[in-house]
Amino acid sequence: MPSTESVFDSETVGVSTLPTTPDRSASCSPALDESTDEHDGASNGTKTTSEADSDIENKFHSKTIRSICCVGAGYVGGPTAAVLALKNPSIKVTVVDRDDRRIRRWNSRHLPIYEPGLTEVVRIARDGLGEVSRVQGSGAIEGLRKPNLFFSADVSRCISEADAVLIAVNTPTKMRGTGKGCATDMTSFEAVAAEVVRHARDGTIIVEKSTVPCRTAQMIQEMIRIQRPGAHFEILSNPEFLAAGTAVQDLLRPDRIIIGSGTTPEGLSAAEALAKVYASWIDRKRIITTNVWSSELAKLVANSMLAQRLSSINSISALCEATGAEINEVSAAIGADTRLGSKFLRAGIGFGGSCFKKDVLSLVYLAESLNLQEVGDYWRQVVEMNEYQRNRFTSRVIKRLNSTLVTKKICILGYAFKKNTSDTREAPALEIIKSLLDENPREIAIFDPCCNPVVIENEIRSLQNYGPPVLSDDGGSVKVYSDAYAACAGSNAILLVTEFDEFLNFPLLSNAASSGVNSQGKSKISPSEVNESAKQHFNDEPECAADCPDCQSGTGYGDSSADNVENSPKKQLDWRRISGEMQSPKWLFDGRCVIDVPKMESLGIRVEAIGSAGWTV
Ligand code: UGA
Repeated sequence: MPSTESVFDSETVGVSTLPTTPDRSASCSPALDESTDEHDGASNGTKTTSEADSDIENKFHSKTIRSICCVGAGYVGGPTAAVLALKNPSIKVTVVDRDDRRIRRWNSRHLPIYEPGLTEVVRIARDGLGEVSRVQGSGAIEGLRKPNLFFSADVSRCISEADAVLIAVNTPTKMRGTGKGCATDMTSFEAVAAEVVRHARDGTIIVEKSTVPCRTAQMIQEMIRIQRPGAHFEILSNPEFLAAGTAVQDLLRPDRIIIGSGTTPEGLSAAEALAKVYASWIDRKRIITTNVWSSELAKLVANSMLAQRLSSINSISALCEATGAEINEVSAAIGADTRLGSKFLRAGIGFGGSCFKKDVLSLVYLAESLNLQEVGDYWRQVVEMNEYQRNRFTSRVIKRLNSTLVTKKICILGYAFKKNTSDTREAPALEIIKSLLDENPREIAIFDPCCNPVVIENEIRSLQNYGPPVLSDDGGSVKVYSDAYAACAGSNAILLVTEFDEFLNFPLLSNAASSGVNSQGKSKISPSEVNESAKQHFNDEPECAADCPDCQSGTGYGDSSADNVENSPKKQLDWRRISGEMQSPKWLFDGRCVIDVPKMESLGIRVEAIGSAGWTV
């Protein structure tokens, strides 16, 4: 079983992410700042005298980054820092987080997040390889590879010791105040940036890793001017493009690295220093340098265009259901056009996850605040189509079940927002469950192969805040199972909500995920690729703390042994057995277009899939 509660709280480090945004926080896009830009559109420094110029030149000219501090031990900061450390054994990489419990988990055998391959990377970089002997008194370490990845809750000290500080904290959507439901909540980012500006050594390179509104670097520069007059920091934008579930592969083989910098010699020099860190494993041709604003905007646009593509194909799936066209056939037909490409064309219940919706909305806010109303309207429709798609799916389920769920058991297979992750943020499952609950079903059973049931229960329990009990333990109708067969037994309908390989009803070898290609079409990494024969030289892992939830539940993912599990074929469900234990008529609603329909129907299960006309008598 992968990660547990703390990860699901927030990615905030250094400060807590508040559920609401305090007044007067810097929560609007810095693009709204009408103050004149003293720089050349990208430069972040103010030169005064030629003496100061040469000081700055010295600080940045031949800068080599020897130590990195990553503020934020969440889904982005943790894996990113781990791979940076893995690929740069001579650089000391420290991940800091004010959440001491989360740091303890990074320093244990049960990491706080689940990502395929991550345990292995952390074991190499954090624990070193080979016999590591500490020479008493001197602190010297010997071995095949010394540890160079550290996790600490001593935020300010680690910031003060670094040549480069990466800010990788959560930037969710504002929940109240100006721009509510649309603008980016910069509370955490602003607080961490202030801490960095306060504690960093003069000359430190500050790197925006979080996804931020365009012109955020200007906000940091302003802080520097006020808090550290006379000090000089270069600010780089270096957005992360990893996706949940494939984070390690994405980091090891990125399509590109974007580094945005000031266009002054110092800015370019800082960009080069960071580029050198990446160049230790990434082809220089893939490292793209831009000005800061282009880089900040590029990240928002990349996510928005991916989301737009999904909303486009999902809108077509509605047409397919009404006409007899098959969405998978349409996707394959258009994806064969090399100008369009085949990725991100799988229709489904709509995108989830912590990024797409918030980033599209951030773009909408940016456009609207610049009085580009039509541009804002255009992008807002991407989010609206996504919600329409999810609601359409739920309505179809209810309609097919004779418009009543009373006395019926509905089983939800998959709760995470996509496969191979324990990340449940903005998972469509929760919204679907909410709609189904309105129909008063006998039971809603949930099973997810990657999420700790306790985590799901905690999320579901939050629905009770304003209404009657929801969880079965509290007298409600929702029950979370740790066994798929028990979840499906006696159900009238199964909803396939996440496309885990375990749920597919055809041999995994024909599935892209098992044939060495991930959802983004990149080759999967194998453990040996992370480090040839590294496993034979693993050092002992640190013990977990007494409050480790994975130790308590005795579950697997995050264990070093789980790497063996994830690299061996997934154990698929026995659908014949499930069919035998369902109530008739047996329904399967495929929300991810991944089920082999004729095969499933041969087991006596009626299938309704997104983008297909559906079951006919
Ligand atoms: C996304 C981007 O893909 C990353 O490049 C980016 O770095 C990340 O956001 C971020 O900003 O942190 P992520 O949300 O983790 O990554 O996962 P995706 O693989 O993009 O999936 C997003 C949603 O789209 C999921 O719910 C997935 O099921 C859905 N999806 C994806 C489809 O419905 N169909 C597809 O063909 C592909």
